[in-house]
Amino acid sequence: MKEIIPPDGGQHHLKNYESVFGTFRFEDVHADFSWHTTGKVNMAYELIDRHTTGPRKNKTALLYADDHRRESYTFEDLRKLSNRFGHLLQRLGVSKGDRVFFFMPRSPEVYIGMLGAFKIGAVVGPLFEAFMEGAVTDRLADAEAAVLVTTAALKERVPRGKLPNLRHLIIVDEQPEYAAGEVNFKQAMAESEEELELAWGSLEDPMILHYTSGSTGKPKGVLHVQGAMIQHYITGKWVLDLQEDDIYWCTADPGWVTGTSYGIFAPWLNGATNLVRGGRFSADGWYRTLQDYGVTVWYSAPTAFRMLMSAGDELTAKYSFGRLRHVLSVGEPLNPEVIRWGLKVYGKRIHDTWWMTETGAHMIVNLPCMDIRPGSMGKPFPGIEAAIVDNQGNVLPPNSLGNLAVKTGWPSMMRQIWNNPAKYDEYFSVPGWYISGDSAYMDEDGYFWFQGRVDDVINTSGERVGPFEVESKLVEHPAVAEAGVIGKPDPLRGEIIKAFIALREGYAPSDELLDHIRLFVKTGLSAHAAPREFEVLEKLPKTRSGKIMRRVLKAKELGLPTGDLSTIED
Ligand code: PRX
Repeated sequence: MKEIIPPDGGQHHLKNYESVFGTFRFEDVHADFSWHTTGKVNMAYELIDRHTTGPRKNKTALLYADDHRRESYTFEDLRKLSNRFGHLLQRLGVSKGDRVFFFMPRSPEVYIGMLGAFKIGAVVGPLFEAFMEGAVTDRLADAEAAVLVTTAALKERVPRGKLPNLRHLIIVDEQPEYAAGEVNFKQAMAESEEELELAWGSLEDPMILHYTSGSTGKPKGVLHVQGAMIQHYITGKWVLDLQEDDIYWCTADPGWVTGTSYGIFAPWLNGATNLVRGGRFSADGWYRTLQDYGVTVWYSAPTAFRMLMSAGDELTAKYSFGRLRHVLSVGEPLNPEVIRWGLKVYGKRIHDTWWMTETGAHMIVNLPCMDIRPGSMGKPFPGIEAAIVDNQGNVLPPNSLGNLAVKTGWPSMMRQIWNNPAKYDEYFSVPGWYISGDSAYMDEDGYFWFQGRVDDVINTSGERVGPFEVESKLVEHPAVAEAGVIGKPDPLRGEIIKAFIALREGYAPSDELLDHIRLFVKTGLSAHAAPREFEVLEKLPKTRSGKIMRRVLKAKELGLPTGDLSTIED
């Protein structure tokens, strides 16, 4: 018998999965948007302005907290501030379709800025603040970003000389002097107008560009369109189960897709109060945030739950989570053990959700009205058709392992890989289906069970790392001749990055050298991409065409059979 945790019997937006699965169509919620009557689409209008013509005008939209700032903004505050930012961008000559990137830590300015960019029809590009120069440059160059919103400290990682399209840097904190092309945010906001003519468009207009990693090549720019909002909205309602009085906290940074789709779009499309906590993870700090703000809906990730779990039950016992109503998780496999622990310490089920940067919004979910089967990602969101298919696209029967695939055509499906149509097509190699790159099976009751990646993409603490990007950085180090990178299973982080390297002539392995190489990746790419473990080999296993055989390295690491070696060199 499989372990089953039944719903808690609370009042939820969606009361019964079977009543909508198979019959719900995304078109059914079009009437909830203003464009349904006006025919004019603008994401920021639906997120913010729409609410200011009714009773939510003075409702708190954004609560912001970090070690230095505690602030609160109403929907009307955000409407005016984002108008100002939109006007600021207009004065810089930014027009519809231009890419405006954000490279800065979480702060109210990121949210105001992104909303302002949407207002004038710009395409928003979020970058994670931990990215170093190489990672930042690759992304800004590929997107041909026109404007970057950043801080005085982070702009040091932006080599403007290599980025001819980047016309302006908007510096959100003060600095003593402004070079040509640099804009003083505070001053420019003060000089801007509070009312703005919005740029209206259609559901297929580009909206946001999120870079993510694959197993080969540079990071891919995943483009989503305005119409994605349909799915952000209804998953916010049914999966996050957002209610009028909720205090909602999504712990993800807007540099990742969870931090935009569910850290900006889903909550505000539903008119919810959205809490943002800046700064780093600390078990104490997170619990204080949950308690002091009376968080009711909490969306986080398995690594965070595991870190809280390892912080000990004494810590948990010091806080009360009386208002917490609904807990969700995304990004990596959610261990059954973590679900059992959550039930014990919070008295709540943790609801797993599966989706990807490319899918833009929830695909497979545990709705509050469903039984949870610990270890399963749940069932397809109503309106989504998911299946396990073989490499030819044949749908496989229950309990067979295969490719996790989704029937194409959902609203938040990516529309492009920026500048790379061939990469885009790879996802749709089987006609009619989006092939996720994850392997899974579906049980006889329609629950999906994640088994792993089909490719070599690494998932460390819920962050997707492309082995190719790390390998490329490693071989830039003067001591490294060849590199192969794999994800090694880890109880806390899901996977850690392990690098196998061969050294150049004249270099001998030492702890000092390996530390130096680690630091080289950390400062050149980003901290989360730096290998935690190294192993020095004479030579790396390669195919005859020269590709590093990561699966052989992985099999060796795990003590598993290496499989077919017919293509290996000598
Ligand atoms: O391998 C799956 C894993 O994360 C990948 C997507 O990563 P990313 O685009 O960074 O998006 C993460 C947040 C949407 C997937 O291909 N993944 C995501 N959710 C789960 C998961 N693995 C297991 N269980 C999940 N719930």
